[in-house]
This record gives sequence, structure tokens and C-alpha cells, in this order.
Amino acid sequence: MPKKINWQTIKKYKTQGKKVAMLTCYDYSMANLLEKAGVDSLLVGDTLGQLVLGYPSTIHAKMDIMIALTAAVRRGAPNVCLMGDMPFLSYQVSIEQAIINAGRFMTEGGCDVVKIEVDSRHLDVVAAMARAGIPVVAHLGFKPQSATLQEKMVATRQIDHARQLINDAENMVKAGACGLLLECVTANTAKAVTKRTDVPVISCGSGPDCDGQVLVLHDMLNLAGAANPKFNKTYANIGQAITDAAKQYAKEIHTKKFPTEINCYNMTANDQKEFQNWLDK
Ligand code: KIV
Repeated sequence: MPKKINWQTIKKYKTQGKKVAMLTCYDYSMANLLEKAGVDSLLVGDTLGQLVLGYPSTIHAKMDIMIALTAAVRRGAPNVCLMGDMPFLSYQVSIEQAIINAGRFMTEGGCDVVKIEVDSRHLDVVAAMARAGIPVVAHLGFKPQSATLQEKMVATRQIDHARQLINDAENMVKAGACGLLLECVTANTAKAVTKRTDVPVISCGSGPDCDGQVLVLHDMLNLAGAANPKFNKTYANIGQAITDAAKQYAKEIHTKKFPTEINCYNMTANDQKEFQNWLDK
């Protein structure tokens, strides 16, 4: 029986110096494959707004679809540490709503932990969620939900910004965050954050010295043919494999090569004969 990985397991990894392998995932079948492959943790990211639903940004991922797909991923991967990504306006409007919505990720989605995109203005939400018993990861650095308000993707190239981020990270942990996710933070800043805290720190494009790494599944499989950020590594060309397979399929339909006899269901020989006689009458 595979052992269930939860956030406590991920915390233990940090003390053991074992790195966390995390990927985004948005459906049952993929989740099943990824768990079997030995991925420790899956993030049902609001990137599904773009990659699954086809919207131009993550802000279009809504609570109900996030919950439905999170539950599907959980059914496919019952043993991974499952992180739910709270979508735009699900935790910013009021603390009460934030707790109710986070609770849905835990109970309906089957999450081990939820993640919210934060800066120093969100300490009260993190504290309230932690008080309510909800394991919450603070996502700092580049925050796609407020991308239009950010001047640069990599905000910590300047020392002042790096200091601010370290400060925010420490305050998040003091407020009750059980982990941090750093997106597009300079590698030296991410290393400093990771060294200074006991909670697990996951890197998304923030260098090798964090406690774990997360990549967007569609990027690492080259599934969507989307922009390939510098921090990504393409491990397979699944997008091309799917296009090639579908091309071959369409060709075989158009040239009447598929289906053939071996793909057909038949009657018993006797019935077939009798049936033909009846048709020919
Ligand atoms: O939504 C997402 O996929 C994310 C990752 C990029 C960290 O938040």
C-alpha cells in the first residue's frame, strides 16, 4: 500500500534534506499517472483558467470549477500531498469568505493544504485561516492573479525588494503560514528565505536551493505549446505526440483505413447467415 503524503511528511522532508517534487495537475487521469510516477505533491493551480479553460489569465478560474477539478485530482491521486490554489477573489473580499472557501478545498476537494497569493497586506487572512485550522501556504514573489499591477516578473533583482520579500516571508510564517511558495524570486533571495525558516519552501522558478520544486505540467510536457519560461525544463514533447497521433487518425478515417474487421463486433456465424437471409428477402 503506498503511504499517504501529507504536509507533515513534506515538513519531515525538509529536516531530512529530501527535496519535494511537485507538479500542477488538473484532472483524474493525469493525477493517476503522476502519483504512480512518484511525484510527491500535486497543485491544482488556477493556471487551469488558461490551460484547461482557455482564458487569457488565471483570474478566470472560479471556485466551483476549481473545487470540481481538485476533487477529480484527489480521486486520481489519493496518496499525494494535494495543494489547492485559491482563485482570484475567493480570499480577498472578506476573512469569512476566505475561510469558507478554503474549507471547501479541504472538505470537497480533499486537499492537504491550500495556497493563496499574498503580500504584507494579507497577514490577517493568513492568520485567520491558520486559526481556523486550515494549513495555508503563502505564495510570494510573482503573483499571477495581480500580474497587471506588477512592473516586473522577477521583483527581487534589487536589494530593497529582496529584503522586503524576506521580511514578508518571515511575517507570513509568524502569522501561521505552514509553507511558502516563491515564484520567480532571485535564486539567492529564495535560498536565504529557505535557510531562515523551518517551514517548507517550494520554488517555482526561484532556483535550486528551496525545499522543493513545482513546474506547470503543460510546460514540462510541452503540452500546450505556450511560452516556455527560462526556469522550465521540457521533459517530453507530448503536445507533438498528440498532434501526430490525431493527424494519423484523421488520415486513416479519411482514407477508410480505420476501423477494420478486427475493430468490429460480430454475430455468431449462424445468426449472421440467418440475418443476411432475412435482410435479402
Ligand atoms: O496556478 C499555478 O499553476 C501556480 C504555479 C505556477 C505555482 O500557482
